[in-house]
Amino acid sequence: MNTPLKEAVRDLPLPSIGEPVIEVRNLTKRYGRNIVHQHLDFEVRRGEIVTIVGGSGSGKTTLVRQILGLEKPTSGTVRLFGQDLTAIDEENARLMRSRTGMLFQHGALFSSLSVFDNIAQPVRELGKVPEDLLRDIVMLKLEMVGLPCKHASKMPAALSGGMIKRVGLARAIVLEPELLFLDEPTAGLDPRSSDEVVELISTLHRALGLTVVLVTHDLDAMVALSTRVAVIADRKVLVAAPVEEAAGVDDPFIREYFLGMRGRRALQALPPARRAKLPPAALEPASVGITR
Ligand SMILES: Nc1ncnc2c1ncn2[C@@H]1O[C@H](COP(=O)(O)OP(=O)(O)OP(=O)(O)O)[C@@H](O)[C@H]1O
Ligand SMILES: [Mg+2]
Repeated sequence: MNTPLKEAVRDLPLPSIGEPVIEVRNLTKRYGRNIVHQHLDFEVRRGEIVTIVGGSGSGKTTLVRQILGLEKPTSGTVRLFGQDLTAIDEENARLMRSRTGMLFQHGALFSSLSVFDNIAQPVRELGKVPEDLLRDIVMLKLEMVGLPCKHASKMPAALSGGMIKRVGLARAIVLEPELLFLDEPTAGLDPRSSDEVVELISTLHRALGLTVVLVTHDLDAMVALSTRVAVIADRKVLVAAPVEEAAGVDDPFIREYFLGMRGRRALQALPPARRAKLPPAALEPASVGITR
């Protein structure tokens, strides 16, 4: 889908990489006896798109919730925009959070609110905003995510899966965040809608100079978007590197994830200069299973 915004950013350079905006050090998180993270380190710099991958239950969403201060680490430090979240009060943590946007993994929209009211909700939570200003803000965001204004009055039940993700994205960027968290933005979408959402994330990244933390099981989205991939396994981040480097790390989970048939197929989409840096096993034809 060609949106005016996509056209406008086509020749823009990618945002340059700046200072760290997320610094997680020696993080341990446990729920009772379940140790989710242990000695985990993770960093994201301004302008990056860092994708967090890992098996189901490996702690991707839990890590994001701790970075947002929605969940307390058992030990270790989490710095967001340079502030140690474990050392500031809830009011300041909320202030830090207001510089971020979030598309949650489940229940992206309030089913009882219209598209307009869903997108407006984070603005209304901040306090009273004149209705005509609110209308302008919401309509601009709808346009940015490629949805015609006529959808503003619709209820979520009347929208397709792809449209729901777009509205969720519009809501996530409504307060013009510097840092955007997207938990499974393409889950449940057909391949075409999925590609459109990936395009849209890439467009917003350029247009708004956003920093993005993406959690996904979608290998195509990971390859298309990531400046770096952070692989969570064994309760920590095993590697955080450009996908072609991460794929070469000698580890059973990484071999299976990146060098299995689905992984190799997705890696074919890398541009030639980056493909040349892949380990040889990643270049086996994607139709052939590798026996080890
Ligand atoms: N509030 C909670 N109370 C107790 N255990 C929790 C809580 N939240 C998460 N967990 C546990 O933490 C672990 C990690 O869960 P999390 O949702 O972060 O995984 P995930 O990597 O996001 O998985 P998925 O890919 O399925 O979304 C799981 O074992 C889960 O049961
Ligand atoms: Mg999750």
